[in-house]
Amino acid sequence: MNPKAHQPDSLPAPGPSALAQSEALVALIRAELEAAGGWLPFDRYMERALYAPGLGYYSGGARKFGLRGDDGSDFVTAPEMSPLFAATLARPLAEALLASGTRELMEFGAGTGKLAAGLLNALGELGVEFDRYSIVDLSGELRERQRDTIEAAAPALAAKVCWLDALPEHFEGVVIGNEVLDAMPVRLFASSAGTWQERGVIWRDGNFAFADRPLPSSADLELLAEIDTAGEDYVTETHDAARAFTRTVCTMLTRGAAFFIDYGFPRHEYYHAQRAQGTLMCHYRHRAHGDPFVYPGLQDITAHVEFTGIAEAGVEAGADLLGFTSQARFLLNAGITEALSDLDPSDIQRFLPAANAVQKLLSEAEMGELFKVIAFSRGLDDTLQAFASGDRSHTL
Ligand SMILES: C[S@@+](CC[C@H](N)C(=O)[O-])C[C@H]1O[C@@H](n2cnc3c(N)ncnc32)[C@H](O)[C@@H]1O
Repeated sequence: MNPKAHQPDSLPAPGPSALAQSEALVALIRAELEAAGGWLPFDRYMERALYAPGLGYYSGGARKFGLRGDDGSDFVTAPEMSPLFAATLARPLAEALLASGTRELMEFGAGTGKLAAGLLNALGELGVEFDRYSIVDLSGELRERQRDTIEAAAPALAAKVCWLDALPEHFEGVVIGNEVLDAMPVRLFASSAGTWQERGVIWRDGNFAFADRPLPSSADLELLAEIDTAGEDYVTETHDAARAFTRTVCTMLTRGAAFFIDYGFPRHEYYHAQRAQGTLMCHYRHRAHGDPFVYPGLQDITAHVEFTGIAEAGVEAGADLLGFTSQARFLLNAGITEALSDLDPSDIQRFLPAANAVQKLLSEAEMGELFKVIAFSRGLDDTLQAFASGDRSHTL
């Protein structure tokens, strides 16, 4: 197959070795699809496209994180945008470590390692003592990048960092995951003329294509029945993998807290009649579009997070919901403006980009409102300063 056939006009073409990687992944997914009888549920397609060893977007060689498309990257995340994100996030993490009397951190999906390096340095500056910072990432390729970043940016604390291949049965400490839940495979469902079907993937005319099948018993029928489609065609996602992941983390957490930051909504906003196209989105060289079959393995595929389901999963696992709020409110409560004002405004070279980045992190039109922070705890008596005002747990 020729992945160029999928190329929307506006997307820059990948180089020959990237295209060869994409073709190899397409062949792998096609073989699985044919072995399964010609149809794969979308979550399996997404899992392969992102995580097939050596070929998937996160497990292959794509550059992924960066500020601009011309450096070969596809998207930017908060820790890549500004060191003040990690410096500010370190404060609630430190507060949770101290309040729980624990001395370990665990980061899921550590990307380039910038958040880890920033947190290590900030915790050091805050004088918080900890024994270990463990990283869990599905991507082996990113592990090397993380190690290099941490050794260069946080050399004094790099020895405390380790990478885990499997989760411990129990963990006492603080867990953090930035933009991890949105990278987990979602199932797709489509309603037409009042009937729901599961949307999956077939191979047709030399390309992957969507095809709908009658609902299997594993679909969340209760949830689908509650969605008001306003009588129109409607496509949406369910987040079985993200919920299972949250349950696993909250079961493992026997004392401490877990924080997840991501874009998304509580259930009543997520499954709104007006969100009839769902939230599936692909990122390639800083361009967002909705076609998950473009350059498989070379573009990111994500969906917004349905936070009510995440809250339910954590509570089902026995954790307490510690808080839920917007990224803007969380960072403001945690002191991001004070951190910015510590910089010298006459040092324009440093101050202006920092102020710009903080504006992006906080602005309602950018990341401040769409991104949320959800946190779970076990054994913490009080809430944290970062949730002291503007907690929206009641909206879940
Ligand atoms: C969008 S990136 C975010 C990276 C980084 N946290 C940042 O903010 O720049 C998503 C990351 O989550 C990782 N990931 C996805 N599912 C995971 C899981 N179940 N366990 C650990 N890491 C996971 C991916 O490998 C990838 O590194």
